[in-house]
Amino acid sequence: MEFTTKITTLSLLFLSLLILTTTTATCTNAVCRRGDPTVRFPFRLSSHQPESCGYSKGFDLTCGNNGVNRTTITLPFSGNFTVEVIDYAAQAILINDPNKCLPERILMLNLTSTPFSGVDVRPFTFFSCPTSDYPRFGQLTPITCLSDKNSTVFATAWPISVNYLSSQSCRLIKTVEVPVHWPSYEQAGSSWELTDNLWLTWRVPRCRRCERRGGKCGLKSNSSSETICSDAPKPAIPRRDQYAIAIGAGIPGTLILFGLVCLVYNRISAFIKRLHPVPHSENNNPQAHSLQSNIMIMGLDVSTIESYPKIVLGESKRLPENDVTCAICLSEYEPKETLRKIPLCQHCFHADCIDEWLKLNGTCPVCRNSPEQIL
Ligand SMILES: *[C@@H]1O[C@H](CO)[C@@H](O)[C@H](O)[C@H]1NC(C)=O
Ligand SMILES: *[C@@H]1O[C@H](CO)[C@@H](O)[C@H](O)[C@H]1NC(C)=O
Ligand SMILES: *[C@@H]1O[C@H](CO)[C@@H](O)[C@H](O)[C@H]1NC(C)=O
Ligand SMILES: *[C@@H]1O[C@H](CO)[C@@H](O)[C@H](O)[C@H]1NC(C)=O
Ligand SMILES: *[C@@H]1O[C@H](CO)[C@@H](O)[C@H](O)[C@H]1NC(C)=O
Repeated sequence: MEFTTKITTLSLLFLSLLILTTTTATCTNAVCRRGDPTVRFPFRLSSHQPESCGYSKGFDLTCGNNGVNRTTITLPFSGNFTVEVIDYAAQAILINDPNKCLPERILMLNLTSTPFSGVDVRPFTFFSCPTSDYPRFGQLTPITCLSDKNSTVFATAWPISVNYLSSQSCRLIKTVEVPVHWPSYEQAGSSWELTDNLWLTWRVPRCRRCERRGGKCGLKSNSSSETICSDAPKPAIPRRDQYAIAIGAGIPGTLILFGLVCLVYNRISAFIKRLHPVPHSENNNPQAHSLQSNIMIMGLDVSTIESYPKIVLGESKRLPENDVTCAICLSEYEPKETLRKIPLCQHCFHADCIDEWLKLNGTCPVCRNSPEQIL
């Protein structure tokens, strides 16, 4: 009897292992050539991976068609681009022009019908100026692949340069929104050139959290849009529990700290008392004093918490202080999430997280200031 149960358990185990390996085996990573990005969900290399391995047609990649085997993406209205980098955890790709004339492609870039949008978009104005006047534009870098003997093309994002070129014998070609790669853009300042990769992001599928936990994001079976995170190392504590733990650890921690402060205070005052005995008529119980001031650390009432401003994040997720993660649950903010700001110190958190926190603890989790000055 016991033996057969063992056999059944073993075979079940074996069977589940088999299913696991066969289902994962169908979506193995692919790469076009050495040094190119690894291709996996939500992308797929259409020649190497079955359709179910990608999220949608918009994420299909090829290995190019001109014999160089570069990882290539086809944007419906803008043509083929090489995929230079795929940052799965940031949900971003860097693309460029296989023919090394990115400004020409930028002039015709149209992300309609793609899953992508720019992370940081800057308006660039293109001008065509007579080449004979070139010395006057010496501080600007010409776009050689768009220029010829008679005319030199410039593009600039700087209002001063736009004004200057407009006032010269130049023809304004077009102003276009360029999805710049802002880390390079910020670093390069005015010398940033339109030959640098374009930086695009996708909103769905949302696999950031899964990727950061080391999980494997994929489509739910029998679903064309819902994703599932598998193989994530287990103790990924659910968010609600995370702040429960944070609060759980925070409050005893605070109590211990106050206990210590209390103890030290008592020791010192006892020592001082021994040096300078106080008359008996005065309050001779310093413990009562210190306890009284410590008991003040407590939660706020719901109406006070509700009076703090809420913010619903837009697509850009821009916050004034450039906060990107909630200090309570440590998750990154996502578009459409509701945050709450503590008015006194201006710190922001997920509304869910800070509401729970403030009910138990009357101080800002970041700066430890009490939001209510009366405390
Ligand atoms: C773009 O790439 C696809 C797939 O590699 C190819 O079939 C198509 O001809 C390319 N288009 C251009 C304009 O190069
Ligand atoms: C591109 O891939 C094809 C087939 O996979 C291969 O025969 C060819 O040598 C590759 N070309 C380069 C430049 O790597
Ligand atoms: C992009 O292309 C679509 C379809 O042709 C068009 O409707 C849309 O106006 C274009 N957008 C821009 C910014 O050119
Ligand atoms: C440059 O200008 C000359 C004279 O106007 C003209 O003949 C020539 O075709 C132009 N070259 C180009 C590349 O436009
Ligand atoms: C998944 O799809 C298959 C065939 O399309 C169907 O037989 C099966 O019942 C579906 N399973 C679920 C859980 O919907």
